Amino acid sequence: MSKQEALWGGRFSTGAAERLQSYGQSVSYDWRLYKYDIRGSIAHATMLKEIGILQTDELNQIVTGLKEIETLIDKGEFQWRQDREDVHMNIEAALTEKYPAGAKLHTGRSRNDQVATDVRLWIKDQIQTNQKAIRALQLSLVKWGERDKTVVIPGFTHLQRAQPVLLAHHLLAYVEMLERDHERLADCFKRADVLPLGSGAIAGSTLPLKRELVSQLLGFSKVSQNSMDAISDRDFVIEYAAAAALVAVHLSRLSEDLILWSSAEFGFIRIGDAYTTGSSLMPQKKNPDIAELARGKSGRVIGNLMSLLTLLKGLPMTYNRDLQEDKERLFDTADTIQASLEIFAEMLGDIAVNSNSCRKAASDPLLLATDLADWLVKQGLPFRKAHHAVGEAVALAEKTGTPIDQLSIADLKKISSVFTEDALSVFSIEKGLNARLMTGSPNPKLVEAQLSRWLSSLT
Ligand code: ARG
Repeated sequence: MSKQEALWGGRFSTGAAERLQSYGQSVSYDWRLYKYDIRGSIAHATMLKEIGILQTDELNQIVTGLKEIETLIDKGEFQWRQDREDVHMNIEAALTEKYPAGAKLHTGRSRNDQVATDVRLWIKDQIQTNQKAIRALQLSLVKWGERDKTVVIPGFTHLQRAQPVLLAHHLLAYVEMLERDHERLADCFKRADVLPLGSGAIAGSTLPLKRELVSQLLGFSKVSQNSMDAISDRDFVIEYAAAAALVAVHLSRLSEDLILWSSAEFGFIRIGDAYTTGSSLMPQKKNPDIAELARGKSGRVIGNLMSLLTLLKGLPMTYNRDLQEDKERLFDTADTIQASLEIFAEMLGDIAVNSNSCRKAASDPLLLATDLADWLVKQGLPFRKAHHAVGEAVALAEKTGTPIDQLSIADLKKISSVFTEDALSVFSIEKGLNARLMTGSPNPKLVEAQLSRWLSSLT
């Protein structure tokens, strides 16, 4: 770039070194902000006309030119120039080349408040896109739960069989997690929804800019209250990255469940061919790649959050060029979670459940040992004693190779005199599930109610 051409050319005697251009450019990735940059510029120019800095025909030139540029970019016909560093300078320079009034556009504005504005607009849209994808995935989980609502599986703690639950209850656990993700994003939206423009490079402007007008035009709900904070703040990027990291972690946990369930050892589910791959060597293989990839990609998203926190932590006030490094991490996070959410919503619609293997795995009577302890409690035994007694029954069952539900009453009575024939009636999965009456339990009626609640709120 020649010295004349650089936007700050006045005080420089030579242009930038070629290496600086390639090292410092951000246009190769921040071009993605173009629609927001153009919207921001149109709002800013409209305000400049309002305060008498632009004449009507100058505003018209600027708006026409920006719209032409937007169309060119949409069509992939805009010439991005790395020697113009970033999306902001590319657009402004192209505008000014064609329309001289473009030279007035940057009045009262700095790229510092401009980039902060663009990124805020971008994140606000992105959050809404992610939220839609979260809703679609929730719906897909609920529909799966509906399809297989009578299927019982063992619930696990420590990856050891714990107690029988409905598969739908397990799936609804993810619907709850995703609901919190949705809320966290909504909360992050509030903090992103503040206009920094008008903060200038650091200390506002001596021109009588109308920030409220720009804010209104761009759909922000408030204007920032401190110019220094406004241009150096990237908390909203970190909050977004953190909320997204949790989305990625939730998808990773769901992935892990699906991977386990689809293994021959579990045999609970079969993921449709369209969403699995084979092995180049082993002809029998059918691999749950999407789940594995989503689990793997969560590492990037967590890493992006760490990068952003590290990026911010040593920065003195206010804008520092380091901040340019926020965008690739931000874009990567947004793209990654969006793609994972979308493909999961599809894949879950193509999963077949093997209810027999599920039932078989859940039918181990030991999974109802806690229900037996509850039975003793109902007869008046303190829980610790009941727990101990059932522990002894389990040990006896193991020692004699007798399933616990087939121990004789005589044997049980030796352990605790409280046992009667009726105690053995707890060994029914249905009875056990039906006996759980509190909100949040895997009782089939309650699960059914949860499924309908979600279905009506999601459709
Ligand atoms: N490309 C820069 C960024 O992304 C824009 C702001 C540059 N500001 C500056 N004073 N050099 O942060």
